[in-house]
Amino acid sequence: MKALVQKKYGPISDLRVVDWPKPFPADDAILIRVRAAGLDPGIWHLMTGRPLMIRLMGLGFFGPRVPVAGWDASGVVEAVGAKVTRFKVGDEIFGNCDVTGTGTIAELACLPENRCAVKPANIALDEASALAVSGCTALQCVRDHGHVGDDSKVLVIGAAGGVGHYAVQIAKTYGARVTGVCSTTKLDFVRGLGADDVIDYTRDSLSASGRRWDVIIDTAGRRGFGELRSLLTPNGVLAIVGGEGGNALTGGFLERALGAAIRSLGSKQKLVAVDSKVTENDLATLKKLVESGKLKPSIEQRYPLEQAAAAIEKLARGGARGGARGKSIVVF
Ligand SMILES: NC(=O)c1ccc[n+]([C@@H]2O[C@H](COP(=O)([O-])OP(=O)(O)OC[C@H]3O[C@@H](n4cnc5c(N)ncnc54)[C@H](OP(=O)(O)O)[C@@H]3O)[C@@H](O)[C@H]2O)c1
Repeated sequence: MKALVQKKYGPISDLRVVDWPKPFPADDAILIRVRAAGLDPGIWHLMTGRPLMIRLMGLGFFGPRVPVAGWDASGVVEAVGAKVTRFKVGDEIFGNCDVTGTGTIAELACLPENRCAVKPANIALDEASALAVSGCTALQCVRDHGHVGDDSKVLVIGAAGGVGHYAVQIAKTYGARVTGVCSTTKLDFVRGLGADDVIDYTRDSLSASGRRWDVIIDTAGRRGFGELRSLLTPNGVLAIVGGEGGNALTGGFLERALGAAIRSLGSKQKLVAVDSKVTENDLATLKKLVESGKLKPSIEQRYPLEQAAAAIEKLARGGARGGARGKSIVVF
């Protein structure tokens, strides 16, 4: 099969489309013929080995533990492991193979049964590839960390991005009043997701209005704790999803996770670094939300396999500014 592979850590330009051995599903996994693979900035970190700390976290010291890039996918089941009960050959599914799986930017991939769900009936199979990681992250921010409810005031920073565009829609389903933060060309897109207010971060300061939010979901990871805490209500929750930049060892996210833990001590405000998980239950919740018309993946761009490496590089650069309207995917 063809797959996008990199055996040693290095620049994304080292990723190559090569012939790669076909994977075989473990007892608890399914083999799918991949229709599309969702992209997100995490792929860049896994394939470049940056920040260095990820190499000490079991993800491979000199090269990625899984040489095939990607972890989200949708496709058609070709074979099931001996213990699989929920899926059969021919099912159209979406899910995630975890950082220790087979990789998904490939013609075939194996996904654990408990990280998959049947595709929502009302969207195309390729659209479903964009749901797992970003959708579960957004859901867990809103429901588990933010405990968002009726009339909660929620600020989503990076509202046009992969995680952010889901967070806006999901927070609305929980009854929140949502403010989305994005750059100028995406204001209408974020309004269209259901945001009650939008703030253009390239023109306006978030603190200018003097407003406070009960929950801040920060996917962009560019603002200091002082500024973010000043935007929170006294018992508010800051859910830190992203954190670019930072030093070479820990990078922005781990640095911020540590900072959040220290600053939460003795404070009524809760600052949490989100470590999202793709679970069977949350995929089922996303499927229901999509089928009820309350959640829709926005696909910014579809790439062929040959352009996948360039797409990952673009996504990593876009995280700094001018990222996607929703998600980009690789289509087979
Ligand atoms: N913790 C977890 O479990 C977890 C899970 C998934 C993802 N992540 C991380 O979360 C981050 C976001 O992922 P993603 O897929 O949503 O990325 P993305 O699609 O690139 O979105 C990032 C967004 O950040 C916005 N942004 C950039 N600079 C900004 C600034 N100064 N102020 C406000 N917004 C700014 C961009 O907005 P514009 O496009 O409008 O410029 C962009 O839409 C990444 O670091 C990713 O690795 C973490």
